[in-house]
Amino acid sequence: MKTQRDIHQQKWIRHFEKNRQHRPEPDWDAPFHMEEKKRRALAWSLAEYQLGDGGGPCCLIARDAESYRQSSHHTQMVTDLWFREEAEHSRLLSGAVKRLRGTFVTDTFAFRQFQRVRRFMGAQFEMLVLLQVEIISTVYYRMIRKHCGDEPIAAMCGLILRDETGHVSYHRDRLCQDHPGGWNLWQRLWFYFLGYACAAVLWLGHGRALRTIGMRNGDFAAQVHRGLRSFVRSVQRRTTGQVPARSPLAAERKPLPVS
Ligand SMILES: [Fe+2]
Ligand SMILES: [Fe+2]
Repeated sequence: MKTQRDIHQQKWIRHFEKNRQHRPEPDWDAPFHMEEKKRRALAWSLAEYQLGDGGGPCCLIARDAESYRQSSHHTQMVTDLWFREEAEHSRLLSGAVKRLRGTFVTDTFAFRQFQRVRRFMGAQFEMLVLLQVEIISTVYYRMIRKHCGDEPIAAMCGLILRDETGHVSYHRDRLCQDHPGGWNLWQRLWFYFLGYACAAVLWLGHGRALRTIGMRNGDFAAQVHRGLRSFVRSVQRRTTGQVPARSPLAAERKPLPVS
């Protein structure tokens, strides 16, 4: 007999299979014009992202990753399909790095520390951290698309954003299944804490490049906050039928009904 989890995973397997269709390749050979300072900033930032977004080990690497992955046939399929899209992001980013005449990055201190954190805590924690990275990366790719001024790179961002939107929704479904009563205050605070920590790491590494290409101060933090808040609110709405107030602490005192 099919469980709710099987039904949920089958839905996402169908999504990932369908999402392979209608993916026009960015026109990497289109004429290229970009101010030198901007080209260097973008090339550097996207080369680092190429390593982080599917360019390293493209699978779960937590100590219990294999036992999670093999917990069912559907879990294995959906996890592999998710990471197949991550590998595709790395391939697309390689196209952008070549177009920008950038230098590929194969290792950084931040990347090594990130791998260490992923290995250390277990598959559930690793997936939570990867979800945070996906929410923060959505902000990053939106900024690149808005400010790059290059059609093929903007098209690449569009493809990656389409996938990442699916990944964030997949995790939301998964977490709602695992927490049918919603998240308590501490779980929500933990989620925000991890999200802001990931955002701070990204900002330290890429903030300068993003400012160089034209992003205004404050845009990044505002969008990160909106992304995290919208995720928490959607989890609570789906599980409890109630939407937390803007502050997680206020939400604990007075949950709002769904309008
Ligand atoms: Fe990705
Ligand atoms: Fe992703």
